[in-house]
Amino acid sequence: MIAKRIFILTGAGVSAESGLSTFRDTGGIWSRYKLEEVASIQGYENNPAFVLEFYNMRRNTHAGVEPNEAHIALGQLQTIWAERGGAVTICTQNVDNLHERGGALSVIHMHGEIAKARCHDCGGLAPYDGDLSPNMGCGACGRTGGMRPHVVWFGETPLYMDEIYEALSSADLFVSIGTSGNVYPAAGFVSAARAAGIPTMEINLEPSGNAEAFDLARYGKASEQVPAWVAEMVAIAG
Ligand code: APR
Ligand code: ZN
Repeated sequence: MIAKRIFILTGAGVSAESGLSTFRDTGGIWSRYKLEEVASIQGYENNPAFVLEFYNMRRNTHAGVEPNEAHIALGQLQTIWAERGGAVTICTQNVDNLHERGGALSVIHMHGEIAKARCHDCGGLAPYDGDLSPNMGCGACGRTGGMRPHVVWFGETPLYMDEIYEALSSADLFVSIGTSGNVYPAAGFVSAARAAGIPTMEINLEPSGNAEAFDLARYGKASEQVPAWVAEMVAIAG
């Protein structure tokens, strides 16, 4: 089997055709909101109601969208590889659940998940797909005023980094899909792969900020490029 262990990093571009805004494309989220006001601890402490409302708006948008062909193809790849003794790690920067709804068996959400709420005081975590408000109580510690979306903000440490680097360092192939390569540590994964002698490929609408770091590249819409790539991988694997 070629590339028995594949590490896939995805970004907002993989969910764009499902109807979720990316961040840095024209008209993207950071062209409409100030990142430091809605995606930082400082922003939350300055105005928790505004930050919670930002995520309530995004969560409601997420409720109305469906996985696209790229999510479905990656779910198929992960399933087929698992059946044949291989492993596909899907590590996403996205906080939506479209990989799971597209059939992925396991997903590493390094920037958290918008459909979960976390208590700022005790860390208590629970699925929550309603609107969060500042005076909500925590189911674990009972304190009010500390519930926040389970999303990693700028200045905070992304989640599952040990698991990520373990899977990345033992991969035979690193594929980055739908990310601009702007935000670390995710943007540094391609360099870590190269340093470990792992072949790298990006699939993106256009060359990303670190396009030159990749051995291979396929440009175009994720809903077209990803299924085509997966079909080739499955055909080659025999
Ligand atoms: N198919 C493939 N790629 C696409 C598509 C598409 N249909 N549409 C957009 N893209 C590409 C863009 O060309 C861009 O390179 O997806 C990328 C999206 O980049 P960003 O908007 O910067 O999103 P992302 O890279 O995921 O951002 C990383 O930044 O703000 C933080 O936490 C946030 O997780 C996010 C992180
Ligand atoms: Zn609590």
